[in-house]
Amino acid sequence: MSSLALTLRAATSRLESAAVPSARHDAEALAAHVLGRSRTQVATAALRGDDADLGERFEALVDERARRVPLQHLVGTAPFRDLVLDVGPGVFVPRPETELVAEAVVAEAMRLQGGGDRPCVVDLCAGSGAIALAVATEVPAADLHAVELSAQACAWARRNTERLAPGLDLRLGDCATAFDDLDGDVDVVASNPPYVPPGATPLEPEVRDHDPAVALYGGGPDGLDVPRQVLLTAARLLRPGGLLVMEHADVQQGALLRTLRSSGSWRAEEGHRDLAGRPRFVTARRRGAAMTGSAW
Ligand SMILES: C[S@@+](CC[C@H](N)C(=O)[O-])C[C@H]1O[C@@H](n2cnc3c(N)ncnc32)[C@H](O)[C@@H]1O
Repeated sequence: MSSLALTLRAATSRLESAAVPSARHDAEALAAHVLGRSRTQVATAALRGDDADLGERFEALVDERARRVPLQHLVGTAPFRDLVLDVGPGVFVPRPETELVAEAVVAEAMRLQGGGDRPCVVDLCAGSGAIALAVATEVPAADLHAVELSAQACAWARRNTERLAPGLDLRLGDCATAFDDLDGDVDVVASNPPYVPPGATPLEPEVRDHDPAVALYGGGPDGLDVPRQVLLTAARLLRPGGLLVMEHADVQQGALLRTLRSSGSWRAEEGHRDLAGRPRFVTARRRGAAMTGSAW
């Protein structure tokens, strides 16, 4: 047994030397994972001066984190809104900024549910299932469908779906051709597609070396090939008045709004910022019957 505070201090300094952002947080999170406690409980125990036997397993995890393996892969989970999702190699780790995208979808689904409808919601490019599962659990009356191209990512989404929302219709496939059985019937299409442009390789090793390339790069000179395909599929799926909510990179909002405005399929096109103030997602309504009372 040794002092938990000293062990955490040594781990933090090792992670700092490897330029890990939030080194203290990650040391506590890894200790919490080994001890089967929450991170707050570990931090409190260290403050109290408790001893703890974290053993070789903790040292091995700190070594891996120092090699910039994502914390979420080491603990096997990632938080997303109220959920704790299973994640690991082969699937994109859900990000906090996407929680706002999910929130816009939840708000619309709740509005429709309040009007007595059973909202039909589609998540294109589902990854771990983050957006679809957040909506399924926060708006239980909604009818959820999700599609994912990568078999590895889809297996993670399947695992999360079976645990959190077994009724969710999850399909392995391409967003270009998915859900031809739902054409014109969908109330909300949500997507966080791959959108990184080809020359913009992410600097963080956790992203560059561990998020799958198919989850990052959107294709084409501007990274917008898949996002533009999402717009086409959304226009096919949505009923008149139905809502599109799609995430993008901060520099892409202008181009996407121009595409939406010039296509003739959309109205009420809007750009939205994330909590850091960066342009982060667009919303638009499928042209057709008038809608009232919406927040978006
Ligand atoms: C940026 S990740 C987002 C995952 C998840 N929506 C989230 O927010 O955490 C993009 C996902 O789209 C998937 N993908 C890429 N191209 C696709 C396509 N043509 N059709 C369906 N999914 C696709 C990738 O495999 C990846 O899981």
